[in-house]
Amino acid sequence: MTGPGFTIGQDGACAQVSADEVQTLLARSRIVACEMIPWSSNYTFAAQLSAAGQPDFLAVYKPRRGEVPLYDFPDGTLYKRERAAYVTSVALGWDFIPPTIIRDGPHGVGSVQLYIEPEPRADFFGYKDCHQADMQRMALFDWIANNADRKAGHCLKAPDGRVWGIDHGLTFNAAPKLRTVIWDFAGDPIPSALIEQLEAFRRDAARLATLRRQLGELLTRAETEMFFRRLDSALEYRRYPAMSSRRSMPWPWF
Ligand SMILES: Nc1ncnc2c1ncn2[C@@H]1O[C@H](COP(=O)(O)OP(=O)(O)O)[C@@H](O)[C@H]1O
Ligand SMILES: [Mg+2]
Repeated sequence: MTGPGFTIGQDGACAQVSADEVQTLLARSRIVACEMIPWSSNYTFAAQLSAAGQPDFLAVYKPRRGEVPLYDFPDGTLYKRERAAYVTSVALGWDFIPPTIIRDGPHGVGSVQLYIEPEPRADFFGYKDCHQADMQRMALFDWIANNADRKAGHCLKAPDGRVWGIDHGLTFNAAPKLRTVIWDFAGDPIPSALIEQLEAFRRDAARLATLRRQLGELLTRAETEMFFRRLDSALEYRRYPAMSSRRSMPWPWF
């Protein structure tokens, strides 16, 4: 068992499972109900998953078929980028993305991510300054993953105080696309603890090979190469990038 523990199910019937077990459950459970999330940008669904011996639990299902075409991302690839972001976060040991897998569902193949119940009134611009380390890590991840869609609503604060990142469909483009609400650290030195984590990853041949293989199955060769180049740039430059244009900020913010 690796990774942090997760609680699945509702108050009355809960179970503690590891990140690996969550991935197995996401992949193998039956999808017993599936409702569209009305404020999503693509056709994104809340799915109820059911497996023998486990409490039912919720996940977010994004079928390939429900992806709205974009001029700057190849069609039908966003669900793979959701998984690519998750495996990258795991490879770096940065556990802020809910477990995400790819499977078949009622609307065809897509990504399925564990649903994290948000704290009801958490406001990103209100809590971000009290979560500086989380924001620094997420900002660095977004830079190297080339996230074009870090809106405020793509950060979720859970009632236990953890901050999660969701919606990584617009990542790993080969061309620079960083678009985020987290510009608080623009031009600042990257904290040494994060640099050390990146360096440790860069030195670890086994972890590198695993991530390279995983990304190779999800992205184009050029996209995978550019990811590793951005990682090297971060290690060379050791500072957060500066805002380059008006397009560096998502609109709307949420
Ligand atoms: N893992 C998750 N846990 C909790 N809520 C989520 C999760 N993923 C998505 N959501 C909710 O669903 C909404 C739409 O999801 P999002 O990932 O933004 O999809 P889209 O790709 O359609 O923009 C989010 O704004 C959020 O409210
Ligand atoms: Mg979204």
